[in-house]
Amino acid sequence: MKIAVFPGDGIGPETCAEALRVLHAIDLPDVQWMEGLVGGAAWRATGHPLPDATIEVAHACDAILFGAVGDFACDQLDRHLRPEQAILGLRRELQLFANLRPVRAIPALIDASALKPDIARSIDMLIVRELNGDVYFGEKGRRQTPEGLRQGYDIMSYAEDEVRRIAHVAFTAARGRRGAVTSVDKANVLETSQLWRDVMLEVAREYPDVTLDHMYVDNAAMQMVRAPGHFDVVVTGNLFGDILSDQASMCVGSIGLLASAALNGSGKGLYEPIHGSAPDIAGQGRANPLATILSAAMMLRHSFGLEAQAATIERAVYRALDSGARSADLGGQDTSVQMGDAVLRALEVEMA
Ligand code: IPM
Ligand code: MG
Repeated sequence: MKIAVFPGDGIGPETCAEALRVLHAIDLPDVQWMEGLVGGAAWRATGHPLPDATIEVAHACDAILFGAVGDFACDQLDRHLRPEQAILGLRRELQLFANLRPVRAIPALIDASALKPDIARSIDMLIVRELNGDVYFGEKGRRQTPEGLRQGYDIMSYAEDEVRRIAHVAFTAARGRRGAVTSVDKANVLETSQLWRDVMLEVAREYPDVTLDHMYVDNAAMQMVRAPGHFDVVVTGNLFGDILSDQASMCVGSIGLLASAALNGSGKGLYEPIHGSAPDIAGQGRANPLATILSAAMMLRHSFGLEAQAATIERAVYRALDSGARSADLGGQDTSVQMGDAVLRALEVEMA
């Protein structure tokens, strides 16, 4: 197993350190550890947010555990030098088109949710976000209007093969869950979305055992706080998925809890917490490491087929929360290291 760790910026190094302690505590086959610089950290050291050396490591490894990228000091740089280009570049370079973002109520944290307890308790969805296309990767730039005004533009598009492959990921995932896919688009306005919807309907015919419904993204945002229990698998494009997954995280309690996998369909995966680099609290040791620890669990499951070990880590995280571990984002005062300690103690119980 070749595992590369790219901690990146802000709280990334702090949360990755705790995830590594957890991985070291669990029974794993031989691991070859690799590392690489990404984001603002890489830009400071090499002048580029995604150096060639990092891309080489990314190709050589089986899986990447990724912290976060983003750094206020880089906000004025040309776009191609900004920290975010590291994660966008890796998604593109490795063809990681399928982003899985599971969102599940955690009993110990129902009170941390922004929703009423009964509504929060019902949450158990998987957001399947397309990660290689959409307005994120279309032509973009600046130009002038005929009146000589500055204009910015970003082109949104999806080709049918891009929609088809993410549709298959969603329908297949639904088979292992409650058998319902909700496709989120804006087909009442956008042609990109109309094609998205047409292709979803075509692929659905190959999965007669799975139900498919469609929702406009504005309505989906509303339903996600009104009746989130309605959703099983939510499949959507890059931009809508970015927004809806942050929203879903607050329905559960904190963005510090949500893990994600970015997969290319042939085993390679990048695993990262969905929160960003949180520069406002970076270096203070107060970040919640649980999303990164849960991302490490997803890595064991999706890249290495180590379901038992993945489930053990997940149970240990829930046990740590049951026992009262609470970082600042969860209304407590535990440091990142104390949160990691709590998970390690819970792991001992789980593995006994
Ligand atoms: C995410 C992040 C990224 C995105 C940023 C850091 C480019 O918000 O993974 O959700 O927009 O995809
Ligand atoms: Mg995001």
